[in-house]
Amino acid sequence: MASYFTEDNSADAVIARLDANADPRFRQIMEAAIRHLHGFVKEVEPTMEEWMTAIQFLTATGQMCDDKRQEWILASDTLGVSMLVETINHRAHDGRTEATVLGPFHVDGAATLAMGANIARDDAGEPCVVAGQVRDRDGNPVEGAVLDVWQTNGAGFYDVQQPDEQPEMNMRGKFVTGADGRYEFRTVKPVSYPVPTDGPVGRMLDAMGRHAYRPAHIHFIVSAPGYEPVVTHIFVEGDPYIESDAVFGVKESLIVPFTQADGAGADWTAAFDFTLAAA
Ligand code: BEZ
Ligand code: FE
Repeated sequence: MASYFTEDNSADAVIARLDANADPRFRQIMEAAIRHLHGFVKEVEPTMEEWMTAIQFLTATGQMCDDKRQEWILASDTLGVSMLVETINHRAHDGRTEATVLGPFHVDGAATLAMGANIARDDAGEPCVVAGQVRDRDGNPVEGAVLDVWQTNGAGFYDVQQPDEQPEMNMRGKFVTGADGRYEFRTVKPVSYPVPTDGPVGRMLDAMGRHAYRPAHIHFIVSAPGYEPVVTHIFVEGDPYIESDAVFGVKESLIVPFTQADGAGADWTAAFDFTLAAA
């Protein structure tokens, strides 16, 4: 007997249309997506107006995307989904440096700079030196490790957010370790800054009564031949947003003291060692 769509059988009715010969992983993903979506609608019982508001949010989120702005990633980040995917995919707690979100502001092709060089090409912010060592899990220095570094300027904006105000590739650079595995670069002390709030995700955060701030951080991708690369940040200890990162990216092992050894006015310094696991 034909089984027409009812409230009770809704998810099964849609899943039954899946081609039995479809790729098994795709089937598994679509079945779960359909079941959870139908379960969500059954729990919430949206009005027609509420459903249309949801459609308009999804539409506006897509329309906000271009080659410089990824509102969908921002939606995933602020709902904790990016960090959940990230955490599931990096379950190994074997001494390697922990990973966190890539975020939307990485740019390929940053220049390789001399060890110790300054990535700050404008004058915003307080001078800071970041240094440390890249090691393997046995504590040996890793030679030839590439640290791809990026952060906002001292005013809290990435170069790509202010193309008319900041020099191109401001606050970006790559550093390659020598035989001692050590790295060092100059920058400015990172500041906390809000994720972009001028789109639908900003309106969603506002409606939820949430702030949009990320605690001050510096992004790194550390890679080396023969090792698993790590996408991570270091966070500034004591930042007021350290426990309420808008994208849930903070891990305790990545929180680093930034200090001014010679008192106010001197360079800030931060030390952090990276541990890579063999591929
Ligand atoms: C960032 O840290 O650059 C970032 C991460 C997620 C969303 C927005 C910005
Ligand atoms: Fe960032």
